Amino acid sequence: MAGRRPLIAGNWKMNGLRSSGVALAEKLAENIKARTAVNFDMLVCPPATLVSEIARTVDGSGIDVGGQDCHTAVSGAHTGDTSAEMLADSGARFVILGHSERRADHGESDKLVHEKALAARDKNLIAVICIGETEAERDSGVTLDVCRKQLADSVPNDATAANVVIAYEPVWAIGTGKVPTNDDIAEVHAAIREALKGKIGAEADKMRILYGGSLKPNNAKEILALEDVDGGLIGGASLQAEDFLAIADSCPA
Ligand code: PGA
Repeated sequence: MAGRRPLIAGNWKMNGLRSSGVALAEKLAENIKARTAVNFDMLVCPPATLVSEIARTVDGSGIDVGGQDCHTAVSGAHTGDTSAEMLADSGARFVILGHSERRADHGESDKLVHEKALAARDKNLIAVICIGETEAERDSGVTLDVCRKQLADSVPNDATAANVVIAYEPVWAIGTGKVPTNDDIAEVHAAIREALKGKIGAEADKMRILYGGSLKPNNAKEILALEDVDGGLIGGASLQAEDFLAIADSCPA
């Protein structure tokens, strides 16, 4: 952890209507507001349709809101897309970029993710940049190479800990209930930190590297305690307030 405050980020993906989304956010906000101190930062990333409503719901609780993607342009003829400025205007402070589902469903390249990260920064959004290997890549022993390449090409060379968070998410662990061993997670996170040092120097020690992929209340404590793991990006378990809070409460004291 080394002085890095853990970030517990919920990725709601394409889930949530106004009633269920607000009810979930209300539960989280009430819980966090009732505490005298918290040892983590909490972020929820609802679908774009709910960003402004959820931002209003959690206002004053200390919980941040993020989008799940943004376009590279500020505005224009891009039917169906959302700009970083629109997210910021809706109350978002963060945006997830390059999630493997977007890389797979929309063919997003590292270069595009890099451009999106610059667009996000221009509007003062913190980019949560996702990287991670597929099962075939893990099986053929190229995990570290794949992650280093995604990192090199998606993360801006002048990124800082204030405008970028990295999320390591093995594609095969997302939504499957499968997780790498603690040693494997530790190895990849250490390699990411090392690669970041080569890219951004000492700033790498401050940058948060989240783990994501089937993070649950029953495995969070050991994973969040690993040296270079600075929080989690949570999908399925972020849709239940109790589970999401239990994961947050698993952060090392
Ligand atoms: P999961 O999703 O926690 O449901 O595996 C994680 C993610 O895709 O960010």
